[in-house]
Amino acid sequence: MTTRVGPVSLPNPVMTASGTAGHGAELGAYLDLSQLGAVVVKSLSVEPWAGNPAPRLLPAAAGMLNSVGLQNPGIDAWLADDIPALASAGARVVVSVWGRSVGDYAEVGRRLTTALVRSRGPVVALEANISCPNVEDRERMFAHSTEATSAALSALAGAVAPLGLPIWAKLSPNVTDLVAIAGAALAGGAGGLTLVNTLMGLAIDPASGLPRLGGGGGGLSGPALHPIAVRAVYDCRQAFPSASIVGVGGVSGGYDAAELLSAGADAVQVGTASFVDPRAPLRVLAELTEWCAAEGFGSVAEVVGTSHRREATRTPNGQNEVARAGAAGKRAP
Ligand SMILES: Cc1cc2nc3c(=O)[nH]c(=O)nc-3n(C[C@H](O)[C@H](O)[C@H](O)COP(=O)(O)O)c2cc1C
Repeated sequence: MTTRVGPVSLPNPVMTASGTAGHGAELGAYLDLSQLGAVVVKSLSVEPWAGNPAPRLLPAAAGMLNSVGLQNPGIDAWLADDIPALASAGARVVVSVWGRSVGDYAEVGRRLTTALVRSRGPVVALEANISCPNVEDRERMFAHSTEATSAALSALAGAVAPLGLPIWAKLSPNVTDLVAIAGAALAGGAGGLTLVNTLMGLAIDPASGLPRLGGGGGGLSGPALHPIAVRAVYDCRQAFPSASIVGVGGVSGGYDAAELLSAGADAVQVGTASFVDPRAPLRVLAELTEWCAAEGFGSVAEVVGTSHRREATRTPNGQNEVARAGAAGKRAP
């Protein structure tokens, strides 16, 4: 079940999704963090950030809305308080960072570099969450503009260059041309893409007319997001055959994970499913392992990008030739 996300080797392709598994080793109370591909921590900023008022979570059809608002203790406190517990749990750690300006991405990167330049400890990669408001661009999300995407990534990449860690750009699905934004992230210095963040939503109490979440709008996650994530991964894999891609969105079971791998992801992340069952990431891994065996796939690498290889073998009458007898005729559970 080993996989490679660019230069990063992981024992398996299942990680936690940023913001859904705490800042540190919290999920270690429920599962052995060393058994996951990696733990992606909640996005960290230069200064501590309080986030949005309650209520922050709301059930939605086939998923949930959240307006947590990027609450975090700040990068310095995280480095001091959380990294030791993650290291002693044997976790491989992906550090997610966010900022409100291009300068913030540079600063958070500088602080990481100062702390980790002698020893990277358990950190295997960085994730740049650019689905956050840019105060220098009328609060428009960085990930909604090619210029801001590229500027944030190059600021971070410049600051963390001494660490030699890959950066995965975490993109928003709320865009007209995701491939263009992904191209800007890769040009700016991202080595990979994490696809996708939540989709913007809103729930209103119709009687009062007030938003039901404390932060106003929220982000939609869970099963409703899954086909959108599959499409995002598929389109970006087609456009960037050699980029690293991590798929995230509505992964609730092994079949969902397999689908994202087939669309071209090198690994997947599990988010909302952990709110139903904190052991979900390891269950997804067990189910994916079983699925690979049942379908006759000998390695994760064989599954990654299967849908694109099928495209290549499409016959002139539009029918796909089924290249793998083991996969023929199988249906989603
Ligand atoms: C409560 C909550 C908090 C989140 N916080 C973050 C965050 O801090 N940084 C980030 O990049 N994504 C954050 N996300 C987005 C998830 O990492 C993930 O991209 C999204 O939820 C889709 O995956 P899922 O359907 O498996 O939850 C958050 C999602 C939820 C539900």
